[in-house]
Formats: sequence, structure tokens, C-alpha cells
Amino acid sequence: MHYLLILGLKQIIFAAKQVNSVAQPIGIFDSGYGGLTVFRSIAHLMPQYDYLYLGDNARAPYGNRSFDTVHEYTWQSVQWLFAKGCPLVILACNTASAKALRTIQMQDLPLLGNANRVLGVIRPTAQLIGGYSRSLSVGVMGTTGTVSSLSYPKEIAHSYPNIRVSQQACPMLVPLIENGEQDSAAAAYFIQKYTQELLAQDPLIDTILLACTHYPLIAHHIAQHLPAGVQVISQGDIVANSLQDYLGRHAEMQQRISCGASQQFFTTDDTSNFDLHGSQFFGAAIQSSFADVLP
Ligand code: DGL
Repeated sequence: MHYLLILGLKQIIFAAKQVNSVAQPIGIFDSGYGGLTVFRSIAHLMPQYDYLYLGDNARAPYGNRSFDTVHEYTWQSVQWLFAKGCPLVILACNTASAKALRTIQMQDLPLLGNANRVLGVIRPTAQLIGGYSRSLSVGVMGTTGTVSSLSYPKEIAHSYPNIRVSQQACPMLVPLIENGEQDSAAAAYFIQKYTQELLAQDPLIDTILLACTHYPLIAHHIAQHLPAGVQVISQGDIVANSLQDYLGRHAEMQQRISCGASQQFFTTDDTSNFDLHGSQFFGAAIQSSFADVLP
């Protein structure tokens, strides 16, 4: 009898360990490669967690697509990440954060009825950007979708009502970067055009926010066209610090995330292309697998 009880307990402990050993990674999503610049900062700050990155390269870029389409693609991708075991998904894409996050948080997640969460990159960035500007004039460069959503002017106004925000849509940059043409003459032409148009809106701008996770790859090109004293801010470290803060405040979520220090990469398109281009964004070699997200 005693022996059977001990055997039963051992089996229960073994089963519990099995459940615990199932990876519950943090999901990181972008329309393509851009989110890898954010993932890089997050993994650097918190290497202990398991991560699963998904790039929807087959349908990128999202920047010029409608609200409904960006929401549909993003929600499909988020559900795929949930099905892979991610309890928390970061939309490391400004366009998806601007056009899909609110609907996902307010409408889609409550219907699922679980405790999974989805966070974006706009609010954490807007909450800190005011700290960088002395002139109280900030320029925002982003996709047409992010700029036309007015998400940044609205979010920055919440935290910094005195800051003037000028926005510049840069529709040609993501297609150029996604195609590995960021150092080409064509890219140089558009980078100069967009930065000049932005600075012409407000000569007091002293801080330019790269409100697209693809743009850190061209930050050095943008800086070439700026007068002395104008700084360029990328989002990676801001989002990483904000996520660390979130997990510190939400023990119930932090405890669900597994700590195997693994990094998995998935794309909805060709994996060898993803490995080749993606490593430039991530700053290290990566090996991706195909993600069967598309219906
Ligand atoms: N990295 C995405 C962003 O931050 C690019 C969007 C796109 O696919 O056009 O907005």
C-alpha cells in the first residue's frame, strides 16, 4: 500500500515536470525582418527566456495596407504564435501596433477567453521619447500606415502635452530594405528626400524617432543628412526595457514564460532568404523554419 502511494506520487511529480518542460516562449512578430532589431535588444537584455520570432515575409510590407488587412494578417500570425505555446506576443512592428493592436486587445483576445496577452511598440516608445528632446520638437519617420493612424502624435500627447510632433511617411524605405537595397543609390535618394521633408516641417526638431523597426538598418544613412545636434532614436532598447518592466509588474505572466534561453525563427516565406537577410537585422547568424500561417 505504502509502496503504491510512493509510486503514484513519483508519477505525479514526473507528469508535472513534463508539463513544466513544455516551452512557453515569448512570441515576437513583425511583417518581415524589422522586428529582429527589437528581438535583438530584448534577447540581449533578457537572454534567459525562450523566444519564438515570426516574420510574415510572404505578405510584407504591411505599410500601405488597409486597417482591415493589417488586422487580419496580424491576428492570424498572433494565433499561430499562441498555438505554438506563446503566452505573450510582442508586435515588434509599428504598422501592426498602429492598425491591429487595439482591435486584438479589445475585441479578439476577450473572445479567446484565456490569459494570453499581446503588447505593441508604440506606447512604450511614446512614453519615453519626450525625455530625449530639449527643443520639445520631435520628428517621427514611419510607414504610411503608422503615420496616417496618428498613433504617435496621440500617444506622445498623453505623456508630453507640450511636445510638437512632426511626422514623415516613408513608403519606399521598407520595400527597399526588405529587398536588401538599403545601401543603394535609390535608397540614398529617398532617405535624403524624406529627412529633408521632415526637417522642413519644423526647424526646431532635435530628435528623430525611427518609428519603424526596419529603419535601424539605415540609421547611419539618415544621420548623414541631419544638422549637428539632431539625434536619431531607434526603438529596440526602449521596447526591451519596457518589456522587462512589464514582466516585473506582472508576475502571473512572467511565471508562465519558460526559461530555456532558446531562440527559434519562423518565416511565412523562403527560409534561405530569411536566414541571409535576417542575420543583418539580428546581428548574428540565424536558421529559420517555414511557418504555415497563411490560410
Ligand atoms: N517593421 C514594420 C514597422 O515597424 C514595417 C512595416 C511594413 O511591413 O511596412 O512598421
